[in-house]
Amino acid sequence: MTSHSTFPKLSHSESDSELPLTEGSLLDFPSNPIAVLRRLNAEHGEIAGLQDGAHRLFFVFGPKWTQRVLSDARTFHSRFFALRGGKRSPQRRLTSGLLSMNGDEHKQHRRLVMGPFQKQVIGQYAEPVTQLVTEMLDSWQVGETRDLHEDMTHYMLRVTSALLFGLDEPELAYQIGAMLDEWIHMNHEIGMGAFIAGKQFTDGYDELMTLGKTLEQEILGMINLKKSRGASGSDLLSLLIQAHDQGVKIDDGNLVGHVALLFGAAHKTTAHTLCWTIFLLTQHPEIMSELWQEIDTLVEQPSPNLGEIENLSVTERVLKESMRIMPASGYSQRIAAEPVDLGPFRLRRGEPVIFSQFITHRLPEIYQEPNAFLPDRWRTLSVSPYAYLPFGNGPRMCIGAPLAMMILKITLPSMLKRFRFSAVSGSEVNGAIRSTMLTPLGELPVTLHEPDGQFDQNSVQGNIHDLVKLPIQTQPAAKPSRKAA
Ligand code: HEM
Repeated sequence: MTSHSTFPKLSHSESDSELPLTEGSLLDFPSNPIAVLRRLNAEHGEIAGLQDGAHRLFFVFGPKWTQRVLSDARTFHSRFFALRGGKRSPQRRLTSGLLSMNGDEHKQHRRLVMGPFQKQVIGQYAEPVTQLVTEMLDSWQVGETRDLHEDMTHYMLRVTSALLFGLDEPELAYQIGAMLDEWIHMNHEIGMGAFIAGKQFTDGYDELMTLGKTLEQEILGMINLKKSRGASGSDLLSLLIQAHDQGVKIDDGNLVGHVALLFGAAHKTTAHTLCWTIFLLTQHPEIMSELWQEIDTLVEQPSPNLGEIENLSVTERVLKESMRIMPASGYSQRIAAEPVDLGPFRLRRGEPVIFSQFITHRLPEIYQEPNAFLPDRWRTLSVSPYAYLPFGNGPRMCIGAPLAMMILKITLPSMLKRFRFSAVSGSEVNGAIRSTMLTPLGELPVTLHEPDGQFDQNSVQGNIHDLVKLPIQTQPAAKPSRKAA
């Protein structure tokens, strides 16, 4: 097997020379997903395979094959967590959310979990979102340089905890968030290793099980706190607890599993989208200026109301383009539930297929200047829902999409109305796909100014230049300071 520590020199498999298949180590995929995705797409186009001895991993990049995989949930199952743990283990319960379910079980649970997130009812969440964003902005000062990555993560943990679980306990939310982060990351690292079964992953396995035990205790603590305060509300956690206590579909494992999945799925994706959008705006003063004028003209109060957000067309295009070029979900996977033909490949039962927003959203045959941030492309461009899919598509499409869009459309204008944001000149901005999500790596420093409409671009360095084509390129490094600018 090829070395795991460095990216291998990939070569076509001789035995399958006709197939769009590349030989390499499967472990290079979780350690540097973007490099592997790009290389396979460049080598083979819209469908590709990576072969490591007897193991194969398949990739669909073009909308046609992505649709084939996502729309056929009977053949292509979800198996988000490779390691389910023993039958009665905390790991088994933590991985008992929607992403581990298929068939009728998935349909039933999805219906239950989706209830509080239907388009018709999410209007009720506008007020708590407005309150939480106001509280956050009230604690910020003009002149400060802040780490947007940490701020948005904390903000979204509070929003998630308040909207989904009816709890406003910031410290508890931050604690569970940090633990979940580590647990999800370990699942991805060790999960792919377990597929190949190397010795180093057996040790990691024990560590994962131990972390799972502590995480489950934290989540149970939150559920008990909720019960002690009366779980009779219409928030998701109350509904799940009521269903559990009445013995309707939800067992102990499902309760913990749904809470773990929802907490993770809701907060990080939305926080990363806010980070990338604000960062992209700091780099595109003209777009920022157009957006600011729209908000200044159409939003009367410090935050937009539900009626106003419907009319914010520049905001809509900016968010749409930001989620195209920096999609919070960089890729996801399915498993062939039975032998199936997929393009030139015959998949064996259990073989994984990856689809990737990161690559599909940059296909030059669909998007002109794919690496540039051009919100105006959406004035005229209309593409297949399998060519633009920040929230996935098909029977497993994100259940939180309408809620996430509402949170983004309230939060972004509120932030921009209160402050002008600038990047810190020469600071390092890096991004990578970690545990399927396109996340900022480390701090994302921004400086806060009066909202004076004087937009300018401070250039930055880091691998962001490899992810997006920014109008001004790199400048020499300067250490960002966390405090007053
Ligand atoms: C910008 C924010 C968000 C993005 C980009 C996003 C993205 C996605 C994507 C791409 C999927 C499909 C994964 C797949 O097909 O394998 C998904 C599924 C899911 N998302 Fe989101 N999501 C966001 C916010 C949320 C929120 C706010 C919630 C909770 C209210 C949520 C809950 C879920 C759940 C439970 C699933 C699994 C659905 C199923 O398997 O049936 N997401 N999300």
